[in-house]
Amino acid sequence: MLAIARTHARRFSDRFTDEVRFLRAWVERPLTTGAVAPSGAALSRLMASFVDADCSGPIVELGPGTGVVTDALVKRGIDEARLVLIEYSPDFCTLLEERFPRATVIQGDAYAMADVVEEAPGSLAGVVSSLPLFTRPLEARQKLIEDALELMTPGAPFIQFSYALVPPVPEVDGRYGVTRTSWVVRNVPPARVWLYRRVVEDEAVEETAA
Ligand SMILES: C[S@@+](CC[C@H](N)C(=O)[O-])C[C@H]1O[C@@H](n2cnc3c(N)ncnc32)[C@H](O)[C@@H]1O
Repeated sequence: MLAIARTHARRFSDRFTDEVRFLRAWVERPLTTGAVAPSGAALSRLMASFVDADCSGPIVELGPGTGVVTDALVKRGIDEARLVLIEYSPDFCTLLEERFPRATVIQGDAYAMADVVEEAPGSLAGVVSSLPLFTRPLEARQKLIEDALELMTPGAPFIQFSYALVPPVPEVDGRYGVTRTSWVVRNVPPARVWLYRRVVEDEAVEETAA
C-alpha cells in the first residue's frame, strides 16, 4: 500500500517537475516551445496510435520535448531503439537521453531533418511531430512535409497535432493528402491530429484511432 502511494507521489512529482520545466522553456522561447505545458496522455496516445508497430524501420519524432509522446510510442510496443528524437532544446535533449537511453537523440533543427536523419529514402515507418508549425512560413512547413514523406515508407503517416481549425499545411493535389481526427477535448487546450500521406485524398475526413 505504502509502495503504491510512493509510486503515485513520484509520478505526480515527475509530472509537476516537467510542467515547470516546460513553462520555463516557454517563457524563454515561446515561439519555439509552442505550448505552456506538455501534451496530455489522451493526445499523446492518439498520436502514437497511428504508428504501425509492425511496420519495420525507424520512427522519427520531431519536437519530443519532455517525452510524453515518446513514452506513448514505447507503451504502444515500439522498441525504443527504433526512435530518432530531434529536439531543439539542449535541456530537453538531456532529459530525453536519461529517459530513453536506447533511442537516438539529436539536438538540432527538425526542419533540417533531410540532412540530419541518416536513413535511406522510403525507410522510415513514420514521423511524429509536435512542432509549432504555424510559427514558420508556409514554404518551410511544406518543405518539411515533402522531405519527411520522401524518407518514409509509402503510405506511412506524417503525424502532427495542432490546436488550429485549419490544417497546419494544406494538402497539395497530386503530391500529398491530409486527414484529421476529431478534437481531443480532454487536452488543454483541445487539439486534433493531422495525418499526411503521399496518397492524395479528395477532402479532409474524420479519422479514428487505429
Ligand atoms: C509544443 S512542444 C511539444 C513537446 C512534446 N512533444 C509534447 O507534446 O508535450 C514543441 C517542442 O518542439 C521543440 N521544437 C520547436 N522547434 C523545433 C525545431 N525547429 N527543431 C527541433 N525541435 C523544435 C520545442 O523545443 C518543444 O520541445
